[in-house]
Amino acid sequence: MSERPTVLVTRPIMPEAEEKLRQRCEVMIHHNEFGIPRDELLKVVGGMDAIITMLTEKVDREFLDAAGPQLKIVANHAVGFDNIVLADCTAAGIPATNTPDVLTETTADTAWVLLMTAARRVGEGERFLRARNEWIWGPLMMLGQDVHHKTIGIVGFGRIGQAVARRATGFGMRVIYHDAISLPPEVEKESGAERCDLDELLAEADFISIHTNLTPETRHMFSTQQFRRMKSTAVLVNSSRGPVVDEEALAQALADDEIFAAGLDVFENEPEVHPGLLDLENVVIIPHLGSATVDTRRAMGLLAVDNVFAALDGERPPTILNPEVLG
Ligand code: DGY
Repeated sequence: MSERPTVLVTRPIMPEAEEKLRQRCEVMIHHNEFGIPRDELLKVVGGMDAIITMLTEKVDREFLDAAGPQLKIVANHAVGFDNIVLADCTAAGIPATNTPDVLTETTADTAWVLLMTAARRVGEGERFLRARNEWIWGPLMMLGQDVHHKTIGIVGFGRIGQAVARRATGFGMRVIYHDAISLPPEVEKESGAERCDLDELLAEADFISIHTNLTPETRHMFSTQQFRRMKSTAVLVNSSRGPVVDEEALAQALADDEIFAAGLDVFENEPEVHPGLLDLENVVIIPHLGSATVDTRRAMGLLAVDNVFAALDGERPPTILNPEVLG
């Protein structure tokens, strides 16, 4: 029997990361295009030394029980870890890790793409041309909103929120932010951002970009009331987690022109997109591509593998979420 540790990877990862893992482990990778159905997942986790999970797999007590006592780590291949019930991992003594930092700039770029695309009606313009509509340049054609020198409100001012603020500074924008945690004064000064409460941000921002974690407190943080407080010219961008926005209420607000536009990378019931959004011109939708670049997905895969190797060696995984399990 092989002495090599066994690792399950629930979706294919970048070849460099897979190769590195294979150098010292027996690796099982699931190639099902739509992910592993839960009942199958609970079977294949059994007896693994390590599991690299995606944001699509719920890691809870049932999962950990199915994996069994040999399990040494759950390494999530994402920075967001709302799919992991951390308390269950901690109770079971299992380190859980994520992939922060390596995706910060790429995810901020994605938020910026959505912001610009929604503000300047790029999706609508593309669809218009592809539909082979007759057209001629006109002074009132498809007018959007200026981005430069406007006010951006960033909700959740962690690593990615701050990276979005850096981009906004280059556009001469005023940056305000809302976060439960106040930044150290020197960081706040460097970012040029002012902290404010959510209502103030909703009323003042021309652009709102959401970068908060999904928690019970942030679920539906944006719903009818919040859309009503926003400017009718405002653009909302969400590249955090779908359920932070009440999608039904957003579809209504966009249909009623209560806000100008939205850009969404994430969805409330992913991979479903609320049908009310699909026919609207003033929403840009992309399929959770926040960190989807070659370099970043390679870096995320390699970081997940580093976390696995550390746990197999009895060392502290570099990006552990529950260090208390290390004793
Ligand atoms: C993450 O890492 O949490 C992202 O949503 C994946 O792109």
